[in-house]
Amino acid sequence: MIARANGNHVSITGLGWHVPERVLTNDELAGIVDTSDEWIRDRTGIRQRRIAAPEEAMSDLSLAASRRALEDAGVRGEDIDLVIVATVTPDMMFPATAALVAEQIGATRAAAYDLSAGCTGFMYAIAQAYGMVAGGLVQRALVVGGDILSRILNWSDRSTLVLFGDGAGAVVLERVDEGGFLGFELGADGAGGRELLLPSSGSRKFEDSVPPYLTMNGREVFKFATRVMVSSAEAVLEECGRTVEDVDVYVPHQANVRIIDHAARKLGFPDEKVVVNVDRYGNTSSGSIPLALADAAGDGRLQPGKLVLMTGMGAGLTWGSALIEWTHETNGATA
Ligand code: COA
Repeated sequence: MIARANGNHVSITGLGWHVPERVLTNDELAGIVDTSDEWIRDRTGIRQRRIAAPEEAMSDLSLAASRRALEDAGVRGEDIDLVIVATVTPDMMFPATAALVAEQIGATRAAAYDLSAGCTGFMYAIAQAYGMVAGGLVQRALVVGGDILSRILNWSDRSTLVLFGDGAGAVVLERVDEGGFLGFELGADGAGGRELLLPSSGSRKFEDSVPPYLTMNGREVFKFATRVMVSSAEAVLEECGRTVEDVDVYVPHQANVRIIDHAARKLGFPDEKVVVNVDRYGNTSSGSIPLALADAAGDGRLQPGKLVLMTGMGAGLTWGSALIEWTHETNGATA
């Protein structure tokens, strides 16, 4: 789907983030599987990632990120009437992690549910929340994106283990007088679903020999990623009547610095417009884009009036872009 925002202006009015304390370096991974710091940095740009403590679950990361977002927006939990948590690693299949978070922040009037769209989850969730706020169904939405992928990784598979990390970000969406979201482009290609999946995690039976771990065809996902990161960004820009030159801040999904560099080069973004933090966090799935937004807020790049382009991609296979004229005076520290 592709759509230009119409009617009411809706924007991000609060931003929060949270990552687990534990830093896991490439050298430590080299003690677990047959890999090296040099290989990981060369092929992915990743230097380290955060790993959740055994007692930490997705609702814990979500809650910490949400509290910061609420504070940044200057609103209380009871002011929120929609909570969406975009994740593929909820605390459990049900109840929804969003319901647990809503309860803990005191959002007693809120509808709350989880959304699964792989690493694109945050992009899908902000589009949904935008629609609900713009359409007047809710006044104020809290959207969390994040994952604890360390729980679903095969810790003896070097081809996936080195790529991912844990973390979450959260945003508050509400009506504003001007600016805010300009448009969205979202897509899915189920035929590519087999390239990135978590077998034995639902009602489909798999052979006993297929382990219940994140399974990926890295080369195919790489090809897909380099294609859609460019096509989706171009589509949303065209739909909104904007150009790459109009964009001040480019926030791509943080999967691999080579994918980011390829997309930035093809689109024509100079380095200073591109937000990169994959070196510090690895791929945090739905946490990636809100964590990158928090970074850009922290280093002063997200100022009212700035045009921000976000593009995500991931399991599904899915992808999604949003264009937003930033309206919020951010005061968050760098993620
Ligand atoms: N350490 C050392 N060697 C490794 C390794 C690791 N962690 N992982 C794989 N290798 C090896 C492979 O076994 C292969 O060896 P071989 O040539 O003897 O078979 C070699 O390195 C090259 O593997 P290849 O798959 O060609 O590497 P690559 O340059 O394509 O990089 C990825 C692999 C996974 C980094 C890359 O394909 C990628 O980023 N894909 C997209 C993944 C992604 O973004 N997923 C999430 C989407 S949300």
